[in-house]
Amino acid sequence: MVKEQVKLREIELKILKALNKSKGETTISDLEKETGLDHVAVARASAWLGEKGLVEQEETQKLYVEILKEGSKYVEEGLPERRLLNIILKLGGNATLSQLSKEASFSEEELKIALGWLRRKNWAEFKKQDSETLIHVREQPPLGDDENLLKLLNDRGVVEESQLPNEMKKMLDSLQKRNVIKTRQEKVRSLLITEEGRRLVQSGVSIVEEVSNLTSDLIKSGKWRSTKFRKYDVEAPVATIHPGKIHPVAELINEIREIFLNLGFTEIRGPFVESAFWNFDALFQPQDHPAREMHDTFYLKFPKTAKLPDKQMVQRVSKTHENGWKTGSIGWGYKWDANVARQTILRTHTTATTIRYLAEHPEPPVKVFSVDRVYRNEKLDYKHLAEFFQIEGIIVDENVTLRDLMGTLTEFYKRLGFEKVQFWPSYFPYTEPSLQSTVYVEEFGWIELCGMGIFRPEVTIPLGVKVPVLAWGGGFERLAMLRLGLEDIRDLYKNDLGWIRRTPILL
Ligand code: PHE
Repeated sequence: MVKEQVKLREIELKILKALNKSKGETTISDLEKETGLDHVAVARASAWLGEKGLVEQEETQKLYVEILKEGSKYVEEGLPERRLLNIILKLGGNATLSQLSKEASFSEEELKIALGWLRRKNWAEFKKQDSETLIHVREQPPLGDDENLLKLLNDRGVVEESQLPNEMKKMLDSLQKRNVIKTRQEKVRSLLITEEGRRLVQSGVSIVEEVSNLTSDLIKSGKWRSTKFRKYDVEAPVATIHPGKIHPVAELINEIREIFLNLGFTEIRGPFVESAFWNFDALFQPQDHPAREMHDTFYLKFPKTAKLPDKQMVQRVSKTHENGWKTGSIGWGYKWDANVARQTILRTHTTATTIRYLAEHPEPPVKVFSVDRVYRNEKLDYKHLAEFFQIEGIIVDENVTLRDLMGTLTEFYKRLGFEKVQFWPSYFPYTEPSLQSTVYVEEFGWIELCGMGIFRPEVTIPLGVKVPVLAWGGGFERLAMLRLGLEDIRDLYKNDLGWIRRTPILL
């Protein structure tokens, strides 16, 4: 049988030659340097050579050692035990413990560590005399293996463990425990030329010219007839590409925007820094309402107060709080204080923005929504953030009812992918009736999302609104966590690159 002559592509031959020259294992990045080819080309050619049995791939674990800041400091100043030893030598070779704690500018902790090592390294003798410990040092011991290793790492940066002399290798554990060096394991792929590969380069091979692009020139000149084209290998390994994309959180916010826009709503936005007037008073929340307290609401020092809207508006709101004004209510029955309403805060809900807008647009029909940031004085944990988003909206029109509100929210949830929705009676100071909406999610059960209701006359009449206002609002993050499969709310904003890359683009 005639053995078929092996033909190689140019890049394969380059790599084979480089491997033939090098002793031992060679990594892909060694080959990149050696041949001037890029990573993809080296990886691809190596795979081809592998299939032909000319090279073998090997994966090895390598241990890299690196000095830490504290370690570099020790290289400069000496290890604590060395410094302490010098002090004792200066004192004539003998010192008591109490002398040392005075003389040496060591913290108690440092002194303990230094003494421990003096003992362990046998650099000093310890004697009990009366109630004192006497420490005796004879001479300056030569640099130890640990000190030499630190110096070497400090000079050279990262060093592979196998390159270190054996006596230094033995120091790795203890220096790591002292927190002055660190080690890290890395998988390294390396290539080895096989016997057959070696024989082949040495006996000489012919090169095939391969073309991977069919160009118009090749077609016009007819050269394509004699050209060898490279076959597609759809399974060939390639480097992962991470194209730029929109952050998953922004992506979901955009999706929500699109749903409301498609339902005929307009987006509104308002200031993060609000007056208590729009955040609370205009919503008929009494001035001693617990939600206004420091532990729920962030109050601002600069600017400390905000301007109130026109006098008449303020008066209508204040009278409503005091005695119900013309709203048909008896109000809360306390003396309303304009200074409390002037306080500046970070808005605690987007309803502040809704009500601002409503005051300026009291004529129906109005259909607006917002997806925006709010702030609450919360302790951060896996369920709570102090800065988060709310989804909110209102419908203002003649003859709209609670059914329209439930219908709109049901449609919104459906478009987000939640089919099962339920509504429960609830309470908010500014709506009557009030509802809580829950959606059913496989694995989690019923989950509360938006609160909602019809604004009370105590809210709408002072603003000059004469028709029903359907309102809803709720947290965005819980929805985002469900959508993105997260269990810790903080993960949404950690910007872990790996997570951002792995998370598929929604839609
Ligand atoms: N503002 C309420 C909250 O922060 C939600 C809500 C908005 C309730 C509108 C009723 C009407 O939870």
